[in-house]
Amino acid sequence: MKPQLILLGAPGTGKGTQAKRIVDEFGYSHISTGDLLRGEIAKGSDLGKKVKSIIDKGDLVNDQVVLELLNANCSISDSAYIFDGFPRNIEQSELLEEHVLKGAASKAIYFDIDLDILVERISNRRIAPKSGEIYNLLSRPPKVEGKCDISGEDLIHRKDDTAETVRNRLEVFKNTIAPILDYYEGRGVLVRIDASTSAEEVFAKVGEAINS
Ligand code: AP5
Ligand code: MG
Repeated sequence: MKPQLILLGAPGTGKGTQAKRIVDEFGYSHISTGDLLRGEIAKGSDLGKKVKSIIDKGDLVNDQVVLELLNANCSISDSAYIFDGFPRNIEQSELLEEHVLKGAASKAIYFDIDLDILVERISNRRIAPKSGEIYNLLSRPPKVEGKCDISGEDLIHRKDDTAETVRNRLEVFKNTIAPILDYYEGRGVLVRIDASTSAEEVFAKVGEAINS
């Protein structure tokens, strides 16, 4: 049985980009709490209305709310999952273990990077909401400007990718990551990967981590 994968890293480190490749190459299911929350906002659900202003500011949504959303969208007895964007604090690490993984074998991959380069990566990101493709005007531009290569849909700039919100998201990350890394290091399941290289090079290291 493949280990459940927990992707850790600051906003813009490439968690979503790598998750897509892991799904294609290794047959994992991908669950991104950010995508699920943005989906609720797009649907205009009560939950979406409740979390919209929090996400627009770049703060964290309540732990229990996110845990419920996560649990409603995954069943680890059926599949090996990539958890992208959860956990975001030590409490969520414990909730993930206790309520979702329940002792299942797991590996935590930390995308390590100098935070200064992330603002540029994020400001050049464009996403295709339906196909889930992630582009970058510098490192992965679409073939036709403003359109997804796969679906042809219009690309969008995420609402929380403004300079002010990104600064807050990076602050939140800096204030929460250390105990999460200690938690997985203590369990002997943490792998650190240099995320400053190309997406291909990062993916090669991710593959080694999955197979090790
Ligand atoms: P979420 O959606 O999880 O956002 P995030 O963690 O801030 O991460 P991003 O999606 O911004 O970055 P990424 O690492 O996926 O990078 P990507 O692959 O796109 O969360 C959003 C919000 O939802 C939170 O702020 C919070 O409010 C809420 N939320 C979510 N989960 C929560 C939880 N558990 N608890 C509470 N609240 C929660 O890549 C970025 C760009 O870089 C792209 O343009 C890409 O093409 C490019 N790129 C990728 N890799 C490379 C590379 N190697 N070289 C060059 N460019 C690259
Ligand atoms: Mg993402």
